[in-house]
Amino acid sequence: MQIAAAPAHLAQPRHLATPPAPNAVRAAHHPGLARAGALSAAGVFFSALSRRRKLAARRAEGEQVVTPWEVEAGEDGVDYDKLIETFGCQPITSEQIERIERLTGKRPHRFLRRGLFFSHRDLDELLNAYEKGEAFYIYTGRGPSSESLHLGHLVPFLFTKWLQEAFDVPLVIELTDDEKFLFKKDLTIEESRRLAWENAKDIIACGFDPKKTFIFRDSDYIQQLYPVTLQIQKRISLRTAQNTFGFDPADNIGKVAFAAVQASPAFSIAFPDFLEPGRRCFVPQAIDQDPYFRLCRRVAEDLKWPKPACIHSKFLPALQGHQTKMSASVASTALYMTDTEKKLRKKINKHAFSGGGKTEEEQREHGANLDVDVSYQYLKIWLEDDEELERIGEDYAAGKLLTGEVKKRLGDVVSEIVREHQEDSDVLFFGTELEINESFFLQARARIEDATVERFMDPAREELRSSFAKKLATEAA
Ligand code: TYM
Repeated sequence: MQIAAAPAHLAQPRHLATPPAPNAVRAAHHPGLARAGALSAAGVFFSALSRRRKLAARRAEGEQVVTPWEVEAGEDGVDYDKLIETFGCQPITSEQIERIERLTGKRPHRFLRRGLFFSHRDLDELLNAYEKGEAFYIYTGRGPSSESLHLGHLVPFLFTKWLQEAFDVPLVIELTDDEKFLFKKDLTIEESRRLAWENAKDIIACGFDPKKTFIFRDSDYIQQLYPVTLQIQKRISLRTAQNTFGFDPADNIGKVAFAAVQASPAFSIAFPDFLEPGRRCFVPQAIDQDPYFRLCRRVAEDLKWPKPACIHSKFLPALQGHQTKMSASVASTALYMTDTEKKLRKKINKHAFSGGGKTEEEQREHGANLDVDVSYQYLKIWLEDDEELERIGEDYAAGKLLTGEVKKRLGDVVSEIVREHQEDSDVLFFGTELEINESFFLQARARIEDATVERFMDPAREELRSSFAKKLATEAA
């Protein structure tokens, strides 16, 4: 796909065209250096090896593994209570949900009401400050590993949209084209940048307000991020990075250094065009991204910068079952926002793991196990109507409903979310009259042009500055 000529701040950096050759010559001519390097490399190697053995042993014992790159749980799915314990976060309480409702005057999003967002770091501190009139900003992101987002990615983005509207705060969205280039063997920088651009359209189609939202690709914005990234890199040892992420000694060094890039947007000094220094940051994410922010918060303490607060969601499970998450890297596990209705229904019918009886008789007699039934778990996330959800749950568990019927209802709900563009639709994107919601996704997506992406990616826009300047002035008054 051809991308229109970009303005100066988005132009492809010239050095991307010819990556410098690795310098392997020096070590070959300095055997002493090479030996010292080999010794320390051996130490690193053994620590990584033992870590991998530990991971393998945990897997063999049926223990769960949750990292930014893999989610593998036992038969009963991810044990989120255990994750809270091992990651050292806090569960979200009903008092906190009520407090959010009180402070924003908005009914909490169903993702919060139904416990999909389940864990946090420093939520009370953030809300205390907000209550005293201290504004924050929101930061979230996407690693462009596929042409479009899947339904799981929509969880943090739709929730972020709700948070942004409810608290009326600025939002920055990082597209980590650098991360995907470093972590995916055959991906070129150019392709990673292109995927990031296409993913930006998916994200914009969630209905974010351009006056309050800045989206950036790391490879464009790195010049502004870099002073912050350097401060962070200097404070993370190789050992810490390895213990946190479990890198292999054969991994490229870009992977190790990347952690600091993902941490950088959590500090408002990275956005001098429209944010004042020292503004608090709030990071919605699924729990797999927490290791980045654990490190980031430790560094913040060291630098005496405000520690970012976090809110974590559970995973939308893979179609095949809740032992793993829906993942863009394994296409058959996922429902994509660009899938046609026919394809969505086919995938659900064929792959969605059933907790119902094997035969109609069995289902009528024993009912379904809702905890492992993927269609019901998806409905729990995507069906807005609380009463209908309760009715389906009761009837399905009691054997009054069959798996096929629940899958059919899920097909309706999901198709509505990703409905294809209709010629006679009078949806106005960015129109103030019409609230953009999930069901308008594809109509909106089809209307997003490169110029709109460019608008979202310009940090020096007057509209960004002035909308926050106004807000700051009101807060100060
Ligand atoms: P990525 O692209 O893997 O995922 C984007 C966001 O979606 C969440 N997510 C899911 N949520 C629910 N169910 C799923 N099955 C599911 N799969 C993915 C991820 O947790 C993430 O919030 N390195 C990051 C990009 C990033 C980022 C950030 C994410 C950069 N800065 C700040 C969160 C916050 C990545 O590759 O995400």
